[in-house]
Amino acid sequence: MKLKMGLAAIAFVVGATGFAMANQDIIDLRKQIMKTNGQAAKVSGMMLQGQIPFDATVAAAAASSIAGSNAVFADFFPEGTETGDTKARDTIWSDPEGFAAASQATVVAAEAAAAAAADGPEAFGAAFQALGATCGACHEDYRVN
Ligand code: HEC
Repeated sequence: MKLKMGLAAIAFVVGATGFAMANQDIIDLRKQIMKTNGQAAKVSGMMLQGQIPFDATVAAAAASSIAGSNAVFADFFPEGTETGDTKARDTIWSDPEGFAAASQATVVAAEAAAAAAADGPEAFGAAFQALGATCGACHEDYRVN
């Protein structure tokens, strides 16, 4: 009887650890998406500052990649991913509608930036600045800074 209970306890602990690891994989995935956002923003910023030549195709693609990833980003916050190696704030779970709206605002701004790239660096720069503001707004409310 004692042994059985001991085995059950071990199975429970192993099971719980397995879940914790799966949750961290989801957390790592959403962090990876944000790293890609950061890299796309960096490349765009470097082009706007003249550190690398402005390329309308690359600028549009960078903005499109931000639009695409933010369209799904809010789906990577299931219950159980509040804790772990994450900077996600508890407001994500207490205010899911606001979080989804913040994500959507970035999608809209990124699509506008992607469209503006064809009009040249000035138009892209203005749209990119508006896009950056939407990143900051979400981080302000939904990320531990
Ligand atoms: C809807 C909210 C939201 C939007 C919009 C958003 N972010 Fe984030 N971002 C987060 C959250 C939440 C985290 C923390 C994720 C975690 O640790 O689990 C994060 C983390 C990051 C990180 C750190 C990733 C790491 O762990 O190394 C970078 C870089 C980043 N975001 C860049 C951006 C950029 C650039 C944009 C806009 C193009 C953007 N984010 C838009 C919510 C958002």
